[in-house]
Amino acid sequence: MEYNKIKAVSAAVTIKAGDNMKLNLTDLLFSLSEALDIVEHEMTGVQSAHGKHVAYLSALMGIENGMKGDELADFTCCAMLHDNAFTEYAREEFSSGNVVDVYELKKRAEMLNKEDYMCFISGARHSAAGERNIALIPFSTNVKNIILYHHENADGTGPLKKDCSVTELKSQIVHLADTIDVIWNIMTVTEDDFADMKKKINSLSGIMFSPKSVELFNKAISYESLHNFRTKSSEEMLRDIVPTVEKDYSDAEIHNIAKFFAGIVDCKSSFTRSHCIGVAQRSEAAAKYYNFPPDKAIRYYLAAALHDMGKLVIQNDILEKRGKLDDAEFANVKTHAMATRELLRDIDGFKDITEWASNHHEKLDGSGYPYGKQADELTFEDRLMTCLDIYQALTEPRPYKTPISHKKAMEIMYKMAADNKIDKNIVYDLDKIFGNKNPA
Ligand SMILES: [Fe+2]
Ligand SMILES: [Fe+2]
Ligand SMILES: [Fe+2]
Repeated sequence: MEYNKIKAVSAAVTIKAGDNMKLNLTDLLFSLSEALDIVEHEMTGVQSAHGKHVAYLSALMGIENGMKGDELADFTCCAMLHDNAFTEYAREEFSSGNVVDVYELKKRAEMLNKEDYMCFISGARHSAAGERNIALIPFSTNVKNIILYHHENADGTGPLKKDCSVTELKSQIVHLADTIDVIWNIMTVTEDDFADMKKKINSLSGIMFSPKSVELFNKAISYESLHNFRTKSSEEMLRDIVPTVEKDYSDAEIHNIAKFFAGIVDCKSSFTRSHCIGVAQRSEAAAKYYNFPPDKAIRYYLAAALHDMGKLVIQNDILEKRGKLDDAEFANVKTHAMATRELLRDIDGFKDITEWASNHHEKLDGSGYPYGKQADELTFEDRLMTCLDIYQALTEPRPYKTPISHKKAMEIMYKMAADNKIDKNIVYDLDKIFGNKNPA
């Protein structure tokens, strides 16, 4: 199918259902993908914007197979987030020595032929964790097993030993798209490179890739469809062909979306394994205490879950350094608050959530970051998020310290309030809200 014809398939899909929070899920997932792509690129050397490249190639093949509307949007988001468990498996698999050897895979690209087609990516752990995570997202069409089987070879030699008679076509498409982006640089591919790609992919039909996915590749992916990467960003390319889904989600669905995001951020560093979800849970207790209306409480919960999203782009050797950070390292860590703002601010309807999430390191006396805002620039909700973040950080377990007691945390926070860093009335309230649950 020609690129221009494909553009006509794209149109905004708005679904009216339920009566809770309207959310542009596509925008939010695009933002996460932006951060995940940076992490994965830095840690493994795969192409930058890997998730978006895989989503674009997958979408072209999906459209060729007749996908459109919600099904196309859901499928593309899954393809974009096929490595969503990267923060989790990188920590577990890289540190355990069971390395996912993308460098080796790239070195062996020359050998990608019938005789030597081994998939060097172990794949099973991040595929299973990614499948578990994505189940939290309330897609309206069937996305089951797309991520679970995204490293399975057609002949059953993948990590889970599932051949293409068992795996879904959607996962077969993502597998093919994923392999293309790991091996070839689709942003600068030449006509000769493309001819080589086509030859190798066809030689692996029925072996590494399912015959149906290869057929779709032959029809949907042309040199011209990749050439546009030279002049457009990956996000523009994707948005040209994929519909946006904006929908009303129930409180339970927003909770699950928030948990999906908090889990991915929390897995980035073993030092803060329960931080974002902890702040989100504490925000619920605070929202109840302050009688936030339900629609505000759920938005505040989502902001709390997303507040450290910017940490996804900070290197782990800094996040996990024992002892004091030097000036340059501290300056680097501080950028996470601005990164959270940048990731959230362009999402439709996220103005308040962006402020609540990204002002959590500002202090009343102007000594905070990133802006050094003064007290009169910080709303009650901003101040509350700051206090919840500090309280959670002090009382949560971390590998190098045992969590401190409620009483000790309050001593520290009352001192900060006396120094005009944080809001003393809120500190007093948190003492009441959490004092009974977490006695000294
Ligand atoms: Fe993967
Ligand atoms: Fe991948
Ligand atoms: Fe933070």
